[in-house]
Amino acid sequence: MDDGPLVLGIETSCDETGVGIVRGTTLLADAVASSVDEHARFGGVVPEVASRAHLEAMVPTIERACGTAGIAPYDVDAVAVTSGPGLAGALLVGVAAAKALAIGLGKPLYGVNHLAAHVAVDQLEHGPLPEPVLALLVSGGHSSLLRVEDVTTGVDPLGATIDDAAGEAFDKVARLLGLPFPGGPHIDRAAREGDRVAIDLPRGLTSRRDLERHRFDFSFSGLKTAVARWVEARERSGEPVPVGDVAASFQEAVCDVLVRKALDAAADQGIEDLLIGGGVAANSRLRAMAEERGSKVGVRVRVPRPGLCTDNGAMVAALGAEMVARGRTPSALDLPADSSLPVTSVLV
Ligand code: KG4
Ligand code: ZN
Repeated sequence: MDDGPLVLGIETSCDETGVGIVRGTTLLADAVASSVDEHARFGGVVPEVASRAHLEAMVPTIERACGTAGIAPYDVDAVAVTSGPGLAGALLVGVAAAKALAIGLGKPLYGVNHLAAHVAVDQLEHGPLPEPVLALLVSGGHSSLLRVEDVTTGVDPLGATIDDAAGEAFDKVARLLGLPFPGGPHIDRAAREGDRVAIDLPRGLTSRRDLERHRFDFSFSGLKTAVARWVEARERSGEPVPVGDVAASFQEAVCDVLVRKALDAAADQGIEDLLIGGGVAANSRLRAMAEERGSKVGVRVRVPRPGLCTDNGAMVAALGAEMVARGRTPSALDLPADSSLPVTSVLV
């Protein structure tokens, strides 16, 4: 049995109220209440709606997680919470709940970075992280390449998107195709019926000139515009829009750039392990392409299962447990919710 620390983690940076419980690197419970349906008709997350939903879901989700794990709150060794980055009002609900729990139980509190938590969660599935590991984090709010020496202290950004996040591009293109929000899973599904070489779409920041300044950065807004133009032209001509082909060609363009740049960064940094995390890591084509191209150049690819890639509390608990295991100093009880917390700030 895992004899690591028992940690409860709370995640409220966006529209998922997540409460996870881990013992060391063993997952005991991962309760998630999502307000995604309440945002669907707006085509994006409405911050005030998300905050209110977190408030309503917090206590029942904590109770559900404790029930699944078969523990009482006072059993935990520490409480961890996402301190940022994310929606300010949403983060505040989680941080306030975590402070109340930590104070009420007399347990240490760890305010952690959401992005580092997306990296740490893989320990629950594939065991201790290789050090260093190259992390490709792709979600609705972020797309970055990170060199991670020690997930509790050393996260070094190599590149990031200069415009839209990868998930944002998936959501915008899905909307264009009349698919529901959030669009990623719908594009993924539609793409299975489509031809990925049907439409020639641009690969952002891959020209020789762009690579000089933006070797490890991403850009998806040109791709999104190219898809919009193609769809408009098709509609003007009165022909039906082949949703599967558009989805497959778009998905191929995004994955191609993500995998190409990640493997280039791995070679540049001399790193042999690539970890892909964040909601877009749930994408089936991204997983398959990374594994296929990675194996050709000797890079091992680790991707958590889809349920651990999208936002959840287990990832926060996983990072919290690592903080405890490595003897890091807990956060102060006046810990802030920081909507623009930089990725280099792993513990607040
Ligand atoms: O990590 P996450 O749950 O929340 C953020 O921190 O942003 O990521 C959500 C994003 C959304 O943009 C959603 O469309 C995308 O992840 N996503 C996917 C898939 N599943 C979720 N994108 C592509 N393919 C998927 N299967
Ligand atoms: Zn996330």
